[in-house]
Amino acid sequence: MYHKNLLNQQVGILGGGQLGKMLAIEAANWHLPVHILDQNDDFPAVPYAPFFRAGDFKNYDDVYHFGKSIDILTIEIEQINIDALFDLEKEGIKVYPKPSTVKVIQDKGLQKLFYQERQIPTAPFQLFENAKKIQNAFTNNQIKIPFVQKSRKDGYDGKGVVVVSREKDFTNLLDCPSIIEEKIDIKKEISIIVARSVSGELVHYEPVEQHFNQEANLVSYLICPADIDHRHYMEMNKIASLIATEIDLVGLLAIEFFIDANNDIYVNEVAPRPHNSGHHTQNSCETSQFEQHLRAILDIPLGSTRQHSIGAMVNIIGEPGYAGKTIYQGLESILSMEGVHLHLYGKTETRPYRKMGHVNISGANRLKVLENIEKIKSTLKVIS
Ligand SMILES: Nc1ncnc2c1ncn2[C@@H]1O[C@H](COP(=O)(O)OP(=O)(O)O)[C@@H](O)[C@H]1O
Ligand SMILES: [Mg+2]
Repeated sequence: MYHKNLLNQQVGILGGGQLGKMLAIEAANWHLPVHILDQNDDFPAVPYAPFFRAGDFKNYDDVYHFGKSIDILTIEIEQINIDALFDLEKEGIKVYPKPSTVKVIQDKGLQKLFYQERQIPTAPFQLFENAKKIQNAFTNNQIKIPFVQKSRKDGYDGKGVVVVSREKDFTNLLDCPSIIEEKIDIKKEISIIVARSVSGELVHYEPVEQHFNQEANLVSYLICPADIDHRHYMEMNKIASLIATEIDLVGLLAIEFFIDANNDIYVNEVAPRPHNSGHHTQNSCETSQFEQHLRAILDIPLGSTRQHSIGAMVNIIGEPGYAGKTIYQGLESILSMEGVHLHLYGKTETRPYRKMGHVNISGANRLKVLENIEKIKSTLKVIS
């Protein structure tokens, strides 16, 4: 089962953003040669990976030729050229997550149909070709406000999500293939990360409670373990295992859930790669999500997900109103705090709501961790 020359395998990552960077750093502990494909060598992962190739992960030829030069191909973003992945898989390159998994997940419409076909609870939805058809459906009483529109492809960090609460919000509609979902009265947003290896071994991390910046629809901070009741804990873990198995996962899967005001559970979406909601594992768990992803795709035994302290994370986000050369305010004071770990992505340009880094907080006392979250949020700012 185990590869004889584990450390000689060439691992390729499509995407050189912060997730690629953190994967490359973990790979370096094992001296595993990592190759990155992205547009240019300004991307965060490039200084941390021994091999870099300039190219577009959405372009067939770029992905195909990159894939041919390595042994195991993985991703840090799901919006990649899927045809190239299928062809590489046919030609014997190990592609994890599998192309069939990525194909479903990279299209929010196919994802929703996947849940519907398996009776996995998810917000009721309809698929639309363009903004005009949504407007017509509203005029004909086929959809009601409030609703949430999501672009089927290319959305991330709240970009590609539009909340329509009043008729005047229709001017914000995205004019592209999209889904319209019922707006859920969300009480809590929970995420569970699971890992599944090539051999089918499956492990779960503890549920994470995510708190959002409402303007940006983007995670502001999270805390793990989440404060949820036993029924929700059991139900969400069961759904997470079911999705991982049904989607034939190899690698990591982050499953985002909503708990609504009636205490019902909905699956929001999933991501087949390291995820923002798993960053706390770097400083609060035996095995970080990044190491776990590598273990899963290399088919070595998965690491323990045991949590040795309460874990929290605050996203470092570009302050609204600032765009340009990045300036961090308040770094010294947060670095002097106990249990606080800084992770910067090295993005030289800031923009409103751009993810620039994160701060992990670990500790034994939940109230103290919550207090530190507030302190970091009010101290650390990214301006230009
Ligand atoms: N149906 C919904 N009802 C209410 N809020 C929603 C709904 N769908 C998404 N949201 C809010 O928008 C956020 C981003 O949506 P999501 O589909 O997860 O897109 P992204 O790809 O940007 O993460 C969610 O985490 C949630 O806060
Ligand atoms: Mg999401």
